[in-house]
Amino acid sequence: MSENKNCRTIETCFTPVLFPHILTKENFIVIIVDILRATTAICTAFGNGAVEVIPVAKIEETKKYRGLGYKVAGERDGIVINGADFGNSPFNFTKENVNGEKIVITTTNGTQTIEIAKHCDAVVLGAFSNINVLARWLSEKNKNIVILCSGWKNKFNIEDTIFAGALIERLQLLSEYNVNCDSSIAALDLWLLAKNHVLQYVEKASHRHRLKKLGLDDVLEYCFTEDTTSVIPILENGKLVNAL
Ligand code: MLT
Repeated sequence: MSENKNCRTIETCFTPVLFPHILTKENFIVIIVDILRATTAICTAFGNGAVEVIPVAKIEETKKYRGLGYKVAGERDGIVINGADFGNSPFNFTKENVNGEKIVITTTNGTQTIEIAKHCDAVVLGAFSNINVLARWLSEKNKNIVILCSGWKNKFNIEDTIFAGALIERLQLLSEYNVNCDSSIAALDLWLLAKNHVLQYVEKASHRHRLKKLGLDDVLEYCFTEDTTSVIPILENGKLVNAL
């Protein structure tokens, strides 16, 4: 593969546990991905008028925010946590529930991943829900890209990886990037394999089956639908706000 040394790079991290080993060392934006369902849900929250979303790693951390007027969203292993207003289904984040509201959220993987990356200069969330607006926004920045997949409990997952591939495809169409990272190349290959029948391909994904067993798989089609929102959740001082 030819390499332009002045070109921005795209690195993909298949799981949070690999994040400390990234090779991109400077001038980069991290894109956190948890397609089923955290980053899709948070995009939906902003799309429906949420003012801010605070992601926290521990359930206990949500408690102090309730007294401060925040709505609490949270799940572990897909199941709504005790005392939460709702779980992590994007369908919970309706206008009625979130318009004008501040939300604190904790999830099994997504918010843990944000926690791992929060020291980085620029952290945004990606989902199929905001894929094209995000790709355009990123392509206009003079920054390298690190796509950080949440996976499942530090294991690789299919849905976040195909999203990484879909985003890489769009970034390469919009601008010039060096993609000399095997994980990015593999993500792109997986996306090319899946893209013409994404929902059928995702039948292979373990979390798809976990959600089905819990009766929570009504969100499947929505989570793989492009551009349902026009938002870019960005982390600012520990809070997610809409960058647009
Ligand atoms: C997570 O953060 O692990 C997921 O979003 C789990 C889920 O709610 O489906």
